Amino acid sequence: MNIIDCVNGALELGVVGGGTMGLGIAQVAAQRSLGCAVLEVDPGARERARSQLTKALTKADERGKLAGTLDEALGCITWAESVKDLADCGVIIEAIPEIKEAKLGVFADLDEVCSPRTILASNTSSIPIATLAAATTRPGRVVGLHFFNPVPAMQLVEVVASLTTDDDVTHAAEAFVRDRLGKQTIRAKDQAGFVVNAIFVPYLLSAIRSFDNGVASAEDIDAGMVGGCGMPMVHSRCATSSASTRCFSSRTACTPSIKTPQPSHPHCCAAMSTQVGWARRQAVAFTTTPMDRRKADHGRFDCHRR
Ligand SMILES: NC(=O)c1ccc[n+]([C@@H]2O[C@H](COP(=O)([O-])OP(=O)(O)OC[C@H]3O[C@@H](n4cnc5c(N)ncnc54)[C@H](O)[C@@H]3O)[C@@H](O)[C@H]2O)c1
Repeated sequence: MNIIDCVNGALELGVVGGGTMGLGIAQVAAQRSLGCAVLEVDPGARERARSQLTKALTKADERGKLAGTLDEALGCITWAESVKDLADCGVIIEAIPEIKEAKLGVFADLDEVCSPRTILASNTSSIPIATLAAATTRPGRVVGLHFFNPVPAMQLVEVVASLTTDDDVTHAAEAFVRDRLGKQTIRAKDQAGFVVNAIFVPYLLSAIRSFDNGVASAEDIDAGMVGGCGMPMVHSRCATSSASTRCFSSRTACTPSIKTPQPSHPHCCAAMSTQVGWARRQAVAFTTTPMDRRKADHGRFDCHRR
């Protein structure tokens, strides 16, 4: 079932917020010849976004990354003046700053003007999708689509269904991101940090803590993780580019909902270590297929189901 209808043949995609993420999403759409309306409230930011996008698409054209011509890609983008201009979009992705009250306002406004069939998505990193959905009269059609920065370069999008999201909406949003935007998707629970940040933010904080505790210099911590673990990026640079404030706001959001002291062993690892021997069992501990489970000591351990 194609539930992403473009009402009156209008645009498939609308983006609210023409900053780092919104612009990246719009660029990906334009590169793939997908019409996209961008709503940016700040006139200065809108002008910057316009020229940034032109530069980015010109560069993408030089690298052969456009589905059509440069003019076609530039023509895919329209600049909305108000939420009313997004009324006929099939999917709208909100990408305004991580401020709950502001996002609630945007969702309420979109709900008022958009077709009841429009799917409303948020790129939030830490605000529960269910909270945003509650600002609308269509909680079943609200879903999380968490892109990564820089959007044109990063393949992954986390698709987040809240307790109130309809299954067919989750499927449609997932298919849209995969087939129309060409991204890889994973599903994540509606929990602060989702999959990636819930793991990555504490990890970055550990690197910062190691530096703070005088374990090693920043350069040696970076060299250790790049050379010793094959990490693709140095950590001090990554922590800076992830912006400390966002890192800390994600941490603040993640910690109470996950309630796991990060340095302690996950329960299943402790059980494996004390009961059978860590090394032999670790590869199968997180597997899910029946065959793997049989191999994992005839299903004696149920850590993979946690
Ligand atoms: N930057 C990242 O690395 C990153 C990664 C993943 C997710 N996110 C999430 O994406 C969202 C956007 O982050 P960002 O880094 O792009 O922010 P940003 O500050 O770069 O851009 C946000 C833009 O939204 C505009 N805006 C504010 N209120 C608006 C409104 N009511 N209508 C239209 N435009 C409005 C602002 O003028 C600004 O240009 C946040 O929820 C953030 O947590 C960010």
